[in-house]
Amino acid sequence: MSYHRITRPLATVAGPLRNRLVCSPVSVNLADPSGAVNDEILHFYTSMARSGAGLVTIGATSVSPEGGSTEHGLKIGPPALDDGLRQLASAVKACGALVSLQVFHVGAQGNTAHSGQPVVGPSPYTCPDIGILAEELSLSAIARIEDEFAEAIVRALALGFDFVELHIAHGYLIHQFLSPFFNRRQDHYGGSPDNRLRFLCAIRDKAETRSPGCFRRVGARLSACDFIAGGLLPADMKAVVGVIEQASGGDGGAYYVVSAGIYETARLKYPAMRRGDYWRWAGYLAGLTSRPVVAQGGVRTLLQGEEILAAQPVALIGMAQALIADPDLLHKALAGDEGTTAVCIECGRCRYIKRSDLTFDCLLEPGYHPRVRDTAHHLAAPALLSN
Ligand SMILES: Cc1cc2nc3c(=O)[nH]c(=O)nc-3n(C[C@H](O)[C@H](O)[C@H](O)COP(=O)(O)O)c2cc1C
Ligand code: SF4
Repeated sequence: MSYHRITRPLATVAGPLRNRLVCSPVSVNLADPSGAVNDEILHFYTSMARSGAGLVTIGATSVSPEGGSTEHGLKIGPPALDDGLRQLASAVKACGALVSLQVFHVGAQGNTAHSGQPVVGPSPYTCPDIGILAEELSLSAIARIEDEFAEAIVRALALGFDFVELHIAHGYLIHQFLSPFFNRRQDHYGGSPDNRLRFLCAIRDKAETRSPGCFRRVGARLSACDFIAGGLLPADMKAVVGVIEQASGGDGGAYYVVSAGIYETARLKYPAMRRGDYWRWAGYLAGLTSRPVVAQGGVRTLLQGEEILAAQPVALIGMAQALIADPDLLHKALAGDEGTTAVCIECGRCRYIKRSDLTFDCLLEPGYHPRVRDTAHHLAAPALLSN
């Protein structure tokens, strides 16, 4: 089997990637309640870095006190969290990968029961799965969150992260401002496309004022399709890319990742992944930018990644569940040992957000969560593998 495309290094603005495999952002709900990095977080992300992937993305890290989606999500901002984040960046890099920090604010899809915080968004909205009415953000609160995003970008780069990935997908706050489905504001943050882009523009301008040139290291996860009337469509990615690249004059820079869906339409994501829609949307985006684009969503094997690189003009391949299920996937494939790879069976267990105890773990790779690690011998993973 030849893997010459996926194993090829890629020169980036932050230095060379050893290959084209990206560990997609996976938030694991294992941080301290303050949002600090701890041994569990280091254990998970270094296991992803030891997979051999060229780039490891740290999952959704909240820039604001009320921006998290769970009680144990990572946070950035308070200086007390800096040492842990610096250690995390350095630990991943010590394994030979570049490292990106995904930053987000949950916005109107928040859940007070999980985060202990009020739920806010561009406009009032109740996520059907959660049932909490989000309050409309005041102009002063919007300005405060723009500042928090800008500070987070500058801080993350100073702490040693190679890239920052803005989460502009999955119905989180920046996405909510862009999408007419969520954003019904009557002021200068709502209505026209320029107004809906204002929040993102302000984040860019405030970050660039603090640290000129920093936006060349800022990438983004974009939503190609929200699967809902009034939501975003593939063509909407063009304006977002224009805003991000304005700071760098379009002259090289961080990467983009293409995703889709919001909480309310989550069930429509998986059929779209299986159809290969995500990879085609990534190919479409690659035609709109000279920056590297990551195709992801449902990639289960290295061979599949190789085929997508051959079929689409994308630079990188992202995997989340395949690497959770078997962090040795790349090493095994390159050694001709694919037969021993534990292939994700899409059981959904790792999607802790759907579970009442919010415990992150994988059926095939028990031990990411300390509680499950202690009882790992009770899990019948080998038997399940043979199903
Ligand atoms: C446990 C878990 C946590 C995730 N956390 C994040 C996250 O923090 N940010 C994000 O953008 N996507 C997150 N995702 C989505 C993945 O990055 C990826 O887009 C999705 O799982 C589809 O890719 P895959 O088929 O390779 O898993 C998460 C997925 C899983 C399973
Ligand atoms: S828990 Fe299930 S869905 Fe998640 S990575 Fe493991 S096998 Fe795949």
